[in-house]
Amino acid sequence: MNTIVNGLQWGDEGKGKIVDFLTESADLVVRGQGGNNAGHTVIVGENKYILHLVPSGILWGDKMNVIGNGVVMDPVGLVAEFEKLRGLGVTITPDNLLISDRAHVVLPYHRDLDAAQEEARGKFSIGTTRRGIGPAYSDKATRCGLRLADLLDAKLAHELISVRLKDANQFLAAHGLPQHDADEALGHVEDALNHLRPHVTNTIPVLHEAWKADKNIVFEGAQGTFLDVDFGTYPFVTSSNTTSGGACTGSGLPPIAVDRVVGVCKAYTTRVGQGAHVTESQEFSDYLHGLGREFGATTGRKRRCGWLDMVLLRFACMVNGVTDLAVTNLDGLDERDEIMVCTAYNIDGLENPFPPAQRDAWDRAQPIYETHPGWKMDTSGCRTWDDLPKNAQSYLMRLGKLAGAPVKYVGIGPDREQTILL
Ligand code: GDP
Ligand code: IMO
Ligand code: MG
Repeated sequence: MNTIVNGLQWGDEGKGKIVDFLTESADLVVRGQGGNNAGHTVIVGENKYILHLVPSGILWGDKMNVIGNGVVMDPVGLVAEFEKLRGLGVTITPDNLLISDRAHVVLPYHRDLDAAQEEARGKFSIGTTRRGIGPAYSDKATRCGLRLADLLDAKLAHELISVRLKDANQFLAAHGLPQHDADEALGHVEDALNHLRPHVTNTIPVLHEAWKADKNIVFEGAQGTFLDVDFGTYPFVTSSNTTSGGACTGSGLPPIAVDRVVGVCKAYTTRVGQGAHVTESQEFSDYLHGLGREFGATTGRKRRCGWLDMVLLRFACMVNGVTDLAVTNLDGLDERDEIMVCTAYNIDGLENPFPPAQRDAWDRAQPIYETHPGWKMDTSGCRTWDDLPKNAQSYLMRLGKLAGAPVKYVGIGPDREQTILL
């Protein structure tokens, strides 16, 4: 059984925790897109792990993990992540982590280009993670990027980087940022590349062998549907296909290898960075931050919180082909008297069940809400559907009905144990 796990909102839905839950019965976990802009939190007992590039399956020790061709990989960041995880007792060797030789590499100038582009956007800045993700993906698309395989050949890499920097340096100079050269860029990643070299391989046959041998594969999505470069709140998106199709193009496994798609959403809606958020509520954000929740796992920024937005989820279930929903953070609503659910947007007097394409329309969209009674009960100790209060059950049933996909998993706390399987 091969399962894609995708975010249905603006990222941080709790994908890491759901991947961890599914990994127990899996053999292999593969990441197909994004870079270290992602931050996936898994809490096991006393330990809190934040995964940026390493698939969350690494925490199970005996599972194979693959960083696929569609990922943009910062070698220095990845080695730092290895060290942090090893410090927490996690084993990482070429026996449990492989990296695609086709993955594109994030180099120091990509991070500076990210900063320069954000500055150039002025009031249209995206609020990127400044990890160089956009520039690395645009280099890939404009065919001046470097794949890991290229970088392992130092002479060729030097030549390619020198050509790329002619143009990049002009842009950086215009924004008062330092100039880069190929020696410096290669010097910066040299140690990291030596460390990573044993993990780098052609991962595609490995994945196909696992598929043909009927192994269970989990595809770990990064970001979420509304950060997808095609389906998201463009231009306030990331630079990859975060939706289910990205799992295939990012790994080399075809669509017919996929058996199901688990869509992960919070029981409410959060976003970090700029861009539309129709159900955003300052009161609700303050409430969740007051509980110590909803701070970004990668940048520490406060997430912008709002009510559950079914316009997003309805569309996300369609484009991802969601077969099962995983609703996390239900416990965040435990103390609320009333809970709002946005069922449609009012845009210029018209009721819209789907998100608009036009960027200005997002700013004019007004949420149309229905109100649900709260349950005013601590759900964090619930372990079965029957343990959940009736009003929480009704809320989840309504969510599934509006989304058009059944709820299969419910999260009532951050710990590995706090997932209810329906
Ligand atoms: P990801 O990027 O989708 O993996 O999500 P993040 O790790 O960035 O953010 C999700 C946050 O919610 C993390 O702090 C998780 O520990 C936490 N979390 C996940 N599921 C639950 C849940 O059901 N309840 C609570 N209280 N926290 C959760
Ligand atoms: P996970 O996998 C939440 C957001 C950034 C910014 C926009 C573009 O943890 O869910 P980028 O650096 O990608 O060019 O930034 O996308 N963003 C995320 N928000 N979770 C993430 O990943 C994100 N990765 C990028 O905040 O708004
Ligand atoms: Mg995250």
